[in-house]
Amino acid sequence: MATIADQSLEHLGGRTSILARQRADHARLDRLMARARTTVQEGGTAHQVALRAVARLVFTHAFAEESVLFPAARRVLPEGDPLTLRIETDHQEVDELVAQLDRSSWSDPGHRELMERTFAVLDHDVRTEEDELLPRMQQLLGTRRLRLIGWQWELVRRIAPTRPHPVVSRRPPGQVLSALPLTVLDRARDLLQRFDEATRCRLTGPVSTADRLLAGAAGAVERTPVLRRGERPETSR
Ligand SMILES: [Fe+2]
Ligand SMILES: [Fe+2]
Repeated sequence: MATIADQSLEHLGGRTSILARQRADHARLDRLMARARTTVQEGGTAHQVALRAVARLVFTHAFAEESVLFPAARRVLPEGDPLTLRIETDHQEVDELVAQLDRSSWSDPGHRELMERTFAVLDHDVRTEEDELLPRMQQLLGTRRLRLIGWQWELVRRIAPTRPHPVVSRRPPGQVLSALPLTVLDRARDLLQRFDEATRCRLTGPVSTADRLLAGAAGAVERTPVLRRGERPETSR
């Protein structure tokens, strides 16, 4: 079984297949992690922005995997359940590590180590997908099906939550039901953050209060019992 890492685009089913879309996103993740490693030297806003870019890519990417790609893998692969569960365990760890990173400042003594631990789990996640899961799907599915999954994954990725929500189920139905409320709350917080960056001030006054209220609302939504439905004990928190 050949990794998808060094296959030609044609072999992957063209740019729109799930294989090519995943590989392109993983390459982008590599570049964003490199930028976060460079900016950690000087810290400040540049590093915060770099880490946010990593988080935004990671959470939308993983959310769409959990609602589109992994259910499809479980339908077609005999080993789909344990294999996707292994990847979901990595996703859960990333959620928890990024939630800790969000609370830490670049000047904290453990910040760099925490960032490297997060990036190591992300690298492991990418390797399992490119070397095991996606080549297995390539063996069993035709180009049309791989492109259809690619389009569905892309659509969900564009409307997915952008922040870590470690308490929510990693599997449908809880995972899918969480999409709408958490996407609205996360993206409202992203808008506030972009406003804060554009005006070059820290989240103070009304903006900071609004951010805290939205974060509190997201925390309350996360804990709704219906959003934990479908969760496996291995990824529950
Ligand atoms: Fe991926
Ligand atoms: Fe993943």
